[in-house]
Amino acid sequence: MAKYPQNINKCLKLFWGNHLNQVYKPHYSVLKKECIDFLTENANDPNQNYCFADLTFGGGGHSLELLKKSSNFQVISVDQDPDALKNGQHIIEQEGLSERITLLSMNFSKFWEHVKSNNNAILKDQGGFQGILMDLGVSSHHFDEDVRGFSFKKAAPLDMRMNNLDNSIPTAADIIAKASEEELSEIFFRYGEERFAGRIAKKIVEQRSSSPILTTSDLENIIFHCYPKKFRYGRTNPSTKCFQALRIAVNSELDVLSSSIPNLISLLKSGGRLAIISFHSLEDRIVKKIYKSISQLDNVSVKILTKKPVVPSEEEITINSRSRSAKLRVIEKL
Ligand SMILES: C[S@@+](CC[C@H](N)C(=O)[O-])C[C@H]1O[C@@H](n2cnc3c(N)ncnc32)[C@H](O)[C@@H]1O
Repeated sequence: MAKYPQNINKCLKLFWGNHLNQVYKPHYSVLKKECIDFLTENANDPNQNYCFADLTFGGGGHSLELLKKSSNFQVISVDQDPDALKNGQHIIEQEGLSERITLLSMNFSKFWEHVKSNNNAILKDQGGFQGILMDLGVSSHHFDEDVRGFSFKKAAPLDMRMNNLDNSIPTAADIIAKASEEELSEIFFRYGEERFAGRIAKKIVEQRSSSPILTTSDLENIIFHCYPKKFRYGRTNPSTKCFQALRIAVNSELDVLSSSIPNLISLLKSGGRLAIISFHSLEDRIVKKIYKSISQLDNVSVKILTKKPVVPSEEEITINSRSRSAKLRVIEKL
């Protein structure tokens, strides 16, 4: 079954060798207008400068829209993906925006600490950020760039690290190779809500004892055959949920989200807003729950501005079908 070398690093090298000059795949920014309107509604004094943070720069759509809106706006943007950062730096130089935007390479879970130790001027002079945005998950680039291993539609090494230069992060292939049957089942069930999680985990453990599972196609093939015949050709590909689950596990997506929200609210100035776009119910539940619990604290004064999440219009979904599951929730520091 394995069409690739039996070692993930050799496998990655083989693919990267052919993709050294790869281009960042276009990303359509979801709920762009709605998001920017929420973030900038209180930033309308022409004599004042406002600082925003975009913690998921991606293709830069939201950051650039903020900068376009007013010359009084500055943005500190963050991404952990080397491709997004390289592409972003290129755009910033090309557009002559380097005076107004700073692009940082880091996991957003470290942003709070970074600001506290390095950027105190924003906190001291401006009282904090006017707006912070998180547009969660992966970008179209991750799915469309074959070598990254996020998509079951393309044969590639099972990598799935957003920060694929950090070799201390276990890849999806590492998890598939080392996690116990119970752990795999838990990952698929918890992060993918996969109903055949147990069966798939069992098959993986059985299969890996005779030949390593290193590629997206190896895994896709196993999952496909674990699905009962009548469910194999439904509207959703059988691999969708397990691939989502593995990606969440590899990048610790839910943990970094939960631990970051309270810290980020503390970086807002009075009237500043945190806007979070999520793409599946696991993330949305976390955002909703943490917003609610912070709004009940006595020592922090906030207002939830989206009683119900804002979702894309039919028109946006027609233009970009990947936006269909997006939900935007916004909270304001009073
Ligand atoms: C949905 S895309 C953002 C798209 C962007 N808003 C735009 O308009 O082009 C999410 C981006 O966030 C990055 N990302 C996800 N989780 C992250 C984290 N914990 N720390 C830093 N960057 C992260 C991903 O690498 C990806 O580039």
